[in-house]
Amino acid sequence: IKTIKDIDVKGKRVLVRVDFNVPLSGMQITDDTRIVAALPTLKYLVSEGARVIIMSHLGRPKGEPNLEFSLGPIANALSVKLGQPVAFAGDCVGSSAEGAANSLGDGHVLLLENVRFHKGETDNDPEFAKQLASLGDIYVNDAFGTAHRAHASTEGVTKYLDTCVCGFLIEKELTFLGEKTSNPDRPFVVILGGAKVSDKIMVIDALLEKADQILIGGAMAYTFKLAQGGKVGDSLAEPDKVETARLALEKAKAKGVEFLLPEDNLVCNALDFKAGTLGETKIQEGDIEDGWEGVDIGPKTIATYRKAVENAKTVLWNGPMGIFEIEESSKGTFAVAEAVAEGNALSIIGGGDSVKAIKQSGYSEKVSFMSTGGGASLEFLEGKALPGVVALDQA
Ligand code: 3PG
Repeated sequence: IKTIKDIDVKGKRVLVRVDFNVPLSGMQITDDTRIVAALPTLKYLVSEGARVIIMSHLGRPKGEPNLEFSLGPIANALSVKLGQPVAFAGDCVGSSAEGAANSLGDGHVLLLENVRFHKGETDNDPEFAKQLASLGDIYVNDAFGTAHRAHASTEGVTKYLDTCVCGFLIEKELTFLGEKTSNPDRPFVVILGGAKVSDKIMVIDALLEKADQILIGGAMAYTFKLAQGGKVGDSLAEPDKVETARLALEKAKAKGVEFLLPEDNLVCNALDFKAGTLGETKIQEGDIEDGWEGVDIGPKTIATYRKAVENAKTVLWNGPMGIFEIEESSKGTFAVAEAVAEGNALSIIGGGDSVKAIKQSGYSEKVSFMSTGGGASLEFLEGKALPGVVALDQA
């Protein structure tokens, strides 16, 4: 795949798709990871004398302008981070966008308003894509978090510009989530958590081809426990996915992949839990009785998983081990975060909740790579082609 390093951008209008879909509280950005992650590409383009025109979506505004989802506040934040003015166009197409794009000088930066204020974006409407494309001479996609969407600004636009390349963030994401997990230094240990087997089964299936060990946590462990004939009491489980889980266990055996489930769990009173608190809690080894609900992995499991991570050369972690938003049931997740960060292995955090958890744990500086993708990371780990990346190859 070609990157911005392979082309000459000086004096060119470079249309860059980034993923500035950041969490906001009012006008306040509560996590700027995705803005920071786009900086290497933006700074490089500026230093090379490109005329940088940035587009992104924010939230899901349903194809019409909605101030709640305006990228205006992001322009200010970006300007501070780049250390230079960032112009803002109140629309991503039409005369205001064209005027602003065409009056840029070399090394100047313009941010366009939310592309999802137009229905044509998510519809991947060719007319809308053509209008976006007309703003630039060159297209750069660096929106890894949105690469699983075939939208006008991620896919359609590539049909109307001759030069289409990726930025440094997409390049890095493909390296860590792709190459480094396809040809891993071994042992390659995968830690997967989260609530549902149905959300992760395709990732599990793909990783069974690559990993040496898969360690399971989170509520999906209870569906696997049912598949082994165990009891889970009132724990969250998916009875209709037990057969799917059983097949995955069988495949792991056939492939020689060690598949570990929690040997103990933190359980709480199921009635209290339904009322919104953990209530009484205890550590439960083996089967979980009715009236109790598993909410985190227990200390023995933590020790086992820690040891596996310590012996690993490559670690991939996606999904929390328990309800880490509540302190009492956060120990498993934070212990895994610590083990992954403090170990000597190449450590890759597969995006979403696990990135949130590792940041809360204070260990994020020590991991090798944290993906900026949520759905995009999962689809990529599943082995699916990402439309935003495929389009660059085809352009
Ligand atoms: C994300 O946050 O996963 C991406 O920005 C994609 O957003 P979407 O799910 O609204 O398409």
